[in-house]
Amino acid sequence: MTAIAISHRSDTILNQTQVDSFNESGFLKLTSIIDEVEINQLRAKLMRLFDDKTGREEGAYYDLVGRDEEGKEPQLPQIKDPLNFVPSIRKMPFMHIVDAVAKQLLGMNATLANDHAILKPASYGQATPWHQDEAYRANPKYDFQEISFWIALQKTTLENGCMHYCAGSHRRPVMTHQSANNDPRIHALECSNEIDGSRVVACPVAVGDIIVHHTRTAHYAGPNITEKPRLAYILIYEAPPHLAKEKREISWHSRRPTAAEARRRMWLIKGGFATVIGRKLARIWRNPQRYINKLKRV
Ligand code: NI
Repeated sequence: MTAIAISHRSDTILNQTQVDSFNESGFLKLTSIIDEVEINQLRAKLMRLFDDKTGREEGAYYDLVGRDEEGKEPQLPQIKDPLNFVPSIRKMPFMHIVDAVAKQLLGMNATLANDHAILKPASYGQATPWHQDEAYRANPKYDFQEISFWIALQKTTLENGCMHYCAGSHRRPVMTHQSANNDPRIHALECSNEIDGSRVVACPVAVGDIIVHHTRTAHYAGPNITEKPRLAYILIYEAPPHLAKEKREISWHSRRPTAAEARRRMWLIKGGFATVIGRKLARIWRNPQRYINKLKRV
C-alpha cells in the first residue's frame, strides 16, 4: 500500500502541503490543535482511570511490555478503549477536529474504530518497542486503511518518551513482528526487522499538539526518565480495508497467552458478556458507519 488517497473533503483542517507531507512521510505533526484547558480535562479523566486500574478485571488495563503478573506494578500500563469507561470524552470539542482530519485523510466514510491510553510512569516508564500498528491486526486478507491520532497530555520530550517515526516506512508491507523480547506472554509487538536509523525522526510535542500517523508507519516511543508521568491518548480511525494484494503471514498472532487475555476470559464467564453486548449495541447506535464498513469487507 502506498499513500492514502483522499476521496472527499469535509472540513478542510489540513492544507495541501500538510496532506502531501503526511502521504510522503507517513506521519504529520499538527501544532496547537487542542486548547490547554481541554487537555487538562482529558488528562484528569484518563489519570483517574489509571489511578483506579479501571478495566483490569476485564483485561482492558494491562502492562504493555511486561508479563502483567498479579501484585507487580506495570512497567508501561495501557487502557484499551477508555471510551467504554469515560464516554463523556466523545463530547469534547477536540473530537470534532480529529474526526474532520480523519475524513480528510481517509475519506468521508472514516470512522472512529478504537481508542487507548498509555501511561509511562515517572522515572521508570518503559519504551514502547518499534512496531507498525497494522501488525496488531490479525486478519491477513486485508490491507487496513487506518490512521492513529497521538495526543500528548503534557509537553512530551526525548526525556519523557516522545514518539519517533521511521519516515516513509508506511510504503512498505507489514514487517515481521514478534512479541516484545520474544515472550508471547507480553502484549506489545516489536518489529523483527532492523529499522533504518537514517530515516528516524524524533517528534517532541507541545501541549495541544497532535501527531497523526499511518497504520504502517513504524514508530517507537522512548522511556520516561523524568520525575513526572507521561500520558498519551490515541484514537484510531478506519475506512473500509482493501483486499490484500499479496499473501501475508502473521505468525506472531498464533499463540499469545497474556495475563490480560486470561483475566478477560474469566470476566466473560462471570457475566461480562452482557456488558460486551450492551457496549456493542451502543456503538452500533452511535457509529453505524463503522458496521457498514465491516459489512463491506465481506
Ligand atoms: Ni502504535
